[in-house]
Amino acid sequence: MLRIAFAGCAMMMSICGGALAESPVERGGYLVNTIMACGNCHTPRDAGGKPVAAQAFSGGITFTTPAFIATAPNITPDVETGIGSWSDAEIRRALVEGIRPDRGHLAGVPLAAIMPANFYKALLPDDLDAIVAYLRAQKPVRNAVPHPVYKAAVQRDAYPDAEAGFSRAGLADPVRRGAYLVTIGHCMECHSAWSRGASDYRTGLGRGGRAFPAREGSPAGTPPAIAANITSDPAAGIGGWTDAELRRAITQGIGRDGRALKPLMAYASYAGLNDADLADIIAYLRRVPPLQ
Ligand code: HEC
Ligand code: HEC
Repeated sequence: MLRIAFAGCAMMMSICGGALAESPVERGGYLVNTIMACGNCHTPRDAGGKPVAAQAFSGGITFTTPAFIATAPNITPDVETGIGSWSDAEIRRALVEGIRPDRGHLAGVPLAAIMPANFYKALLPDDLDAIVAYLRAQKPVRNAVPHPVYKAAVQRDAYPDAEAGFSRAGLADPVRRGAYLVTIGHCMECHSAWSRGASDYRTGLGRGGRAFPAREGSPAGTPPAIAANITSDPAAGIGGWTDAELRRAITQGIGRDGRALKPLMAYASYAGLNDADLADIIAYLRRVPPLQ
């Protein structure tokens, strides 16, 4: 019934266009579950490596690096073990500044750099509010994750497009819109050249080469993977790929030669991207300066 009523509405946009507008919770759910893939880190997985839907967002992967050991926390509205007691402003600050609330355990302490706040900084205010609304609408799940251990000061690298910022008006341009999506999807964090423990966005944007070891808490036996060159270079990058090949790699995890990409590349989440967003992401990738 609902579906039929909706289709009717679509044909009479001018009359009931308002009813078609996405609610903030729907918009937040779209961002969280597609381009931003929060659950990839924050949702627990079963022994076979599949995300456990009934415990979505209740705490996930443990990352062990020379600088920290940190587990993606429970971000459901559970008051004791999740973020149920946090204010909207506190959640927004954690997302875009990577800083915890100024109270309780670890008051005001920065989150480990693995939480991509340096990219989420780019979020437009309405998208940020939509994400908070969606998190608040989730089922509270009780699950306490281990406290983090920090061995070095948090170093969160500045991502140029996030520092420069975006405006809603600017996103009328498909390439800019693609840049926005690639930023909040932190694609280039994995896909840029990696030197001295940091992504090189200034001279190695999209060049690939970063190696990812198998991770604790990630799908059983996740093999090490090396991120690909996704600059517009026709030989080393994706310059010679067709749009269809790029769509298939991003949403189905199938390489140009038909091989299966390793699941570190979040294609299962990107599979939910709508056509317009995918087209704009591809339009942007085609403009990333070629690098070998
Ligand atoms: C690459 C993995 C990764 C992704 C993607 C990610 N996070 Fe996180 N997030 C973490 C880790 C790890 C921490 C904890 C860091 C620490 O303890 O220092 C964290 C911390 C947080 C916190 C603070 C919670 C607390 O109890 O301290 C919030 C809120 C949060 N993330 C929300 C999100 C949302 C919403 C998204 C998607 C828009 C997201 N995260 C995407 C890994 C990730
Ligand atoms: C967590 C790290 C990570 C993130 C985030 C990520 N990727 Fe990837 N991506 C990889 C890795 C690793 C591979 C290579 C996998 C393999 O070789 O099996 C890859 C492969 C690809 C490929 C295939 C390239 C080729 O030559 O085979 C494309 C295209 C791609 N990614 C685009 C994107 C886009 C667009 C985004 C953001 C929406 C993104 N990636 C986000 C890690 C990541």
